[in-house]
Amino acid sequence: MSARLLLVEDNDAYVENLKEIFTDLGHEVRTVGSCAAAREAARDWVQVALVDLKLPDGDGTSLARELKEENPDSEVILLTGHASMESAAASVRAGVWAYLMKPCAVPDLLATLDKAVRHVEAQQEKRELARRAQVAEKLATVGTLTAGLSHEIRNPLNAAALQLSVLERRVRKLEPGVQGPLLDPLTLVRDEIRRLEHILQDFLQFARPLHLTIRQVDLRLVLEKVLAFISTDAERRRVHLTASIGHPALIAGDADQLRQVFMNLLLNAFDAAPEQGEVRLTTETDGDVVEVHVDDSGPGVPSEQLQRIFEPFFTTKSKGSGLGLPITHAIVSQHGGTLTVSRGPLGGARFTVSLPRAKSPQ
Ligand SMILES: Nc1ncnc2c1ncn2[C@@H]1O[C@H](COP(=O)(O)OP(=O)(O)OP(=O)(O)O)[C@@H](O)[C@H]1O
Ligand SMILES: [Mg+2]
Repeated sequence: MSARLLLVEDNDAYVENLKEIFTDLGHEVRTVGSCAAAREAARDWVQVALVDLKLPDGDGTSLARELKEENPDSEVILLTGHASMESAAASVRAGVWAYLMKPCAVPDLLATLDKAVRHVEAQQEKRELARRAQVAEKLATVGTLTAGLSHEIRNPLNAAALQLSVLERRVRKLEPGVQGPLLDPLTLVRDEIRRLEHILQDFLQFARPLHLTIRQVDLRLVLEKVLAFISTDAERRRVHLTASIGHPALIAGDADQLRQVFMNLLLNAFDAAPEQGEVRLTTETDGDVVEVHVDDSGPGVPSEQLQRIFEPFFTTKSKGSGLGLPITHAIVSQHGGTLTVSRGPLGGARFTVSLPRAKSPQ
């Protein structure tokens, strides 16, 4: 079991000691010495924070409350050299997981930490399951609604397009001098109708249930194709696209749909990255699972939007449809995989697709 731990403590020797113990146990550890640095380091990252009660720029109890508000699934363990009834009561009110006296025996600390980590993981799993159920339900409702609506809109739109071409033909029979001022607005209307048809097509594609053609595919080849296809986009948008896609990884899946998954995630990363920013694609194999990370150096997904970005039609872009992530999520789920978002190593978002590896044929 590996967790993301934040140590907030200004006693360097003590911090180094704990860091070594936790790192040896396989945890990922960040250490900071003040409340301000803790707020920054914890954001969208921390699972369990171990906080000293007395910090140079504030007290641990208020920090604990802030950390819990910012990261509702995380837990805080308060460590103190001077226990008092007041600070114990304040820490209970702040919702801390445990309140320990320093120096505290390492086995006791580890046992408390272990329980806190298990609790955090159970909470996160519960939230993730609820989110997936909600997305699936919304997709189904929106899908049916969109399909119905798109069909209804299509008929009058086709009729309008037909009448427009009749009008255009008649205008072209007029004197050349009068044609110009009439044809310009007609062309504009025709372009707008085309745009509407395009949008309807997208919606209909979204509404149709996904049909996967499952074959044995090498994920590396899928990613290489996507990279070749998208690299000109990266250049045009002035973002540095790098990739490290390791060994072949066989997946039972639909290569076309998988390509769509990584295209959507990379295009979002391009949108998020600033000019001259970075987007990185990496793969990692972990037992029976292969993970693909798409990282960018943009601002990341604000925590209040984390729950919403997989919802159909949720978008923060003026020209976005908000269908990219729901479609991506649906494709990944149909492959028996998961799509998650977190804070990435480039400072922006990290979208991770985890897919089960195919059983070898022999
Ligand atoms: N890499 C990212 N960094 C920050 N925010 C992101 C990132 N990827 C997605 N988002 C947020 O999630 C929202 C939904 O993304 P989604 O791909 O579903 O739709 P879109 O990109 O807005 O529109 P479309 O994909 O249809 O063009 C985005 O509008 C953006 O706010
Ligand atoms: Mg998108």
